[in-house]
Parts: sequence; structure tokens; C-alpha cells
Amino acid sequence: MKKALLKVGYTCNNNCVFCHSRPLRRAPDLTTREIRRRILQARALGAEMVVLSGGEPTLRQDLPALLRFAREHGLQTGLITNGRRFVYPGFAAGLASLGLGFVYLSFHSPSRRTHALSARTDSLPETLGALAQLIRLGVPVTVNTVVTGHNIGDLPALVDLLAARRPDKIKLSALEPKGAALDDPALCPPLGAAARAIAAALRHGRARHPAQRFGCEGLPPCLLPGFAELNDDLIADGFTLFREAFERRFFPPDYRNRAKAAACFDCALYDACPGVFKGYLDLPDPPPLKPEVRPRSNSFVFAPADADRPGPDSIWLASRPYQAEPADFSPAEVAATLRRGQLYAARGGRHMSLDHGRDLIKLRPVAGGGRRYRPCRRNVFAPLERRLERLVRALQGDVLEVGCGAVRFYALLAAASRAGRLRYVGVDPELPRKRVPAGMRLVRSDIESFAAADASFDHVLLLRSYDHIRLPSVAFPKLRRLLRPGGRLTVVDGTAFGLVLPRLPADAKAGEFQHYRNHDSRQARTLLEAFGFKVLREIPVDPAGGNEWLLEAEPR
Ligand SMILES: C[S@@+](CC[C@H](N)C(=O)[O-])C[C@H]1O[C@@H](n2cnc3c(N)ncnc32)[C@H](O)[C@@H]1O
Ligand code: SF4
Repeated sequence: MKKALLKVGYTCNNNCVFCHSRPLRRAPDLTTREIRRRILQARALGAEMVVLSGGEPTLRQDLPALLRFAREHGLQTGLITNGRRFVYPGFAAGLASLGLGFVYLSFHSPSRRTHALSARTDSLPETLGALAQLIRLGVPVTVNTVVTGHNIGDLPALVDLLAARRPDKIKLSALEPKGAALDDPALCPPLGAAARAIAAALRHGRARHPAQRFGCEGLPPCLLPGFAELNDDLIADGFTLFREAFERRFFPPDYRNRAKAAACFDCALYDACPGVFKGYLDLPDPPPLKPEVRPRSNSFVFAPADADRPGPDSIWLASRPYQAEPADFSPAEVAATLRRGQLYAARGGRHMSLDHGRDLIKLRPVAGGGRRYRPCRRNVFAPLERRLERLVRALQGDVLEVGCGAVRFYALLAAASRAGRLRYVGVDPELPRKRVPAGMRLVRSDIESFAAADASFDHVLLLRSYDHIRLPSVAFPKLRRLLRPGGRLTVVDGTAFGLVLPRLPADAKAGEFQHYRNHDSRQARTLLEAFGFKVLREIPVDPAGGNEWLLEAEPR
């Protein structure tokens, strides 16, 4: 269900010590008319449920009228609330009778003292009373607890107290260092400590209350191993629209309040991970992020689907259904690969392509033919290969090639070295035995352990080796240092692709993957910019061409 979060103003009967909205507390609340207008806008933008938040929305006298208005316009309704007013049975029954479909209730601690310290009012009895009313009335309730320096030791007891009341979900959230939360450093536990306390409470909760559902927010998968699927932020919870009271329009929720560390570029979860709340990385005790470094496949095959395995990833090629293998590509990645036009047949049935131009035949969708494809006889990889050759011919000075392998342009480079136009260093962990002329040097090493003096190269080349770099957070700062001011970095690599085979080869097995990512030029550009490069030229993947892209950059 598509949900819209609509903040109606910031007046509140609590004054939570950590509240990110505290600076807005005195701003005027929205009028009934304005909220009605915004409810209609949310509906026009596709929302099926409108969730009112604040401030404290239950303080509004017009709340029943607003819920009724939303319902009359076909929208379901929800509230984000400290809940206190629901302790009054008449109030709770009134809103429930208007079809209130969801309550997100803030809860601080099972200890009356700690709860009062956090909310700055002695409100635990009311909040618990409210929870009981809502559950009795059958309103689905998510209870949210923000983990602070005050309640970090209370979490297992908090889980026990809440689970006994059977809310729909118990959610434990990391504190966002924003608004009032910045006033007192003791409020904000180090994120690693909050994550450990939350993980322990979740293990406790799962063991003691197996039927209880749990959720979390603000913790990346590496800080909460084993519980990543519990992530329950706005985006995960189906919110497609968000609007602060002072904003002129709705925005889709995003992760712009999150940040990632340089080491996150080494992580296989980078694209799926929202990162940590901004501010945590600058603290004296930054979170102990643990990138998950693991190789993955750069391609998947489409093999004929058999009757037992019909799947959403099937395509039809000349009327025959095919299905994606292996499963380490999500359906979304398979769909994105097809949108980029990166589908090939294998020349001679080889399912390992070593030279794309030689081994792969591009498949083009037939116009109006659904998911039907036709082979394209042109070598779609040739234009970028020609461009690279021109680039290599023009090289001079000191050149470093990272991941040189068998040195693709050996003849050109050797000739230029003999002529004294360039000095070449090729670095690769697996080097061929090759005699090289003076002016050329091959070094058996990965780039992470390769050492050379700063500013010793005019040009660095990564020709189809970018995706093979295990630790970009080590490699790219180094490459930036190795380049002279005004020097050039040229990167060429490929996005993932699909290969259509008449049948799965008998010897098909999970390969030993050598790729750590399948970036497109936009993702690679983000990475280069994060490590201090300025991108001068970007040639993205052309859906009518091959799967390769090119970036040229210089140190910023
Ligand atoms: C600002 S409150 C508004 C609704 C209502 N007054 C309440 O207390 O639930 C919305 C939600 O944001 C949470 N929140 C407030 N400040 C926060 C912070 N600094 N970090 C994380 N969550 C926070 C609250 O606990 C609550 O669940
Ligand atoms: S991308 Fe960063 S924060 Fe996210 S899981 Fe990986 S290391 Fe952790």
C-alpha cells in the first residue's frame, strides 16, 4: 500500500529530550483547510493511506473530522503519536470507529522514571493505558522506541513488557543526531553500542516471544548482522510521499540524511544499504562498519525454463520461455540489465566469454514483439575498442596500467616504449611470463599492495579491471596520489549482462567469481568523485551497443 506521511504542525504535549523536531516546536500548526488540501494532493499523487504526524496530531480538535474527510475520499488513515490521549476510552473508540488503520506509538522505557526523563513528563501510565485501549479496539499498533543513553540498558525488559501486550510490531530505532538530540552528547550512544544493545534485545525477544514481530531503523546490515530483514524505515514501510508542515510539496522519502564511509565502497551491500544517520561518522567513536567484501558474477544465463520452475524472470526468445540462472541476480537486477539492452547469445555455445567481441552476439528486442529478440550481426563492442586503441596510441610519459593481465595493447605500448615516448608499468596479480623491452615493467601485485612514489605517473589505466578491484577504499586514494597534478585516469568497464543459452551446460556450476561489482558509469563516477577525482568525460552504456562504459578523470 502506498502511504503518505503528512506532518500537521509541531505542537506537542511531550517534550522528548531527543526530538528531532524540537527547533520547530513553536511554528504555527497547519489549518484544517490546509490539511484537507494536502490530503487531497496526497491522494492525487497516488497515496492509498495518509498518516498524520507532528508534533502530536492527537492534540488537534479537528482530528476526527480530518480522519473522516480522508476516509470519505477513499484513503485509509494512520497516526504517529505519543499515544497519551488514547488512554481516554471515548477518544480511542471514536477514532477507531472512523476506521483508524494504523498507529505508530512512541515508547521510551519500562521504567517510569526513565520514561519521564525521556518524554519530560510523567507519562508512562498514560502511554501504557493508551496501548491497552488501542489493542482492545483491534487497531494495529507499531510501538517505536528510540534507543538513547537513558534507555539503552532497558531494552530486554522493554521487549518483555511490550510483547506481553501483543502489539502488531515492536520497533527499536537508532537515534538520529538532529534537533534536540544534539543538545546533550550523553543522549547519543555510540552507534556500535546501540546496535549491540538492539541485537541483544532482538535475540532475547525472538527467544522469549516467538510470535512477536520486530522492526528496526537507522542501523545498516553490517551493524545488525542476522537482522537486516527487520529494517523498517519509511521507504521499507511503503511510504512514497513525505511532507514537513513547512514544505511546499510532497517529496519521496530518501536517504539524504544518511552517510556512508569510504570503506563502504568495498562492500557488496553498498547499493542496498542506506548507510548511517549523518553525524555518526564524525563522532570521536565512529561506528565499526564492516564492509562485506565478496566477489560476485558479472553475468547470468537465460536457460530454457522447465515446467517445474516457471518464474517472474522468464523471457521468451522466439516463443521459447527462458529463465535467469544463477539466483545471485535479483529479479530487479535482471530487469535493469534487460532495460540496458544487455542480452547476448553465445557464439558456439560457450558460456564463459573471454573476449566479448569474439564470443558474444548481441540480441535486440523485436519491435512490438513482447520479449522477443533477434541477433545483431554487428560487433557492438568494436566502437569502444577502437576508441581505446586511439587513446593508447596517444599515450606518453609515465603510464601505470592496473590489472594489465596479458597487456591487451602490448604491441602498441612496446613500440612506444622502444621509441622512448613512454615508460610503462603494468600491475597484475596474475602476470604472463613475458620479456618486455626497456621502458616497460610488469609487477606481480594487486593494486592494494603495489607501492610507488607519489606523483610518479601521468596516466593511469584501468581497462576492464575496475570491477576486479577488491578494496576501492585502498586503491583509489592511492591512484590519486600516484598521479601527477593534471594527470589522467581512464577507466573502462562493463555492466552485468545476460547470456541466452539453448540449454544449461552440463558442467555449469557456481563459478569462481573475480568481479566485486558490476557498476555502470554513474555508479563508478560516484565512487571516483568520493575519492577526490573530477570526471572530465563519461561515455555511458548505450542500450543499442555493448555493455561497456568509459570514464576519464583527473585528481581534483
Ligand atoms: C517527532 S515524533 C512526532 C509524533 C509524536 N509526537 C510521537 O512522539 O510519536 C515522530 C517519531 O520520530 C521519533 N523521533 C524523534 N526524534 C528522533 C530522533 N532524534 N531520532 C530518531 N527518532 C526520533 C519519535 O520517537 C517518533 O517515533
Ligand atoms: S555499505 Fe557500509 S554501512 Fe552498509 S553494510 Fe556495507 S559497510 Fe555497512
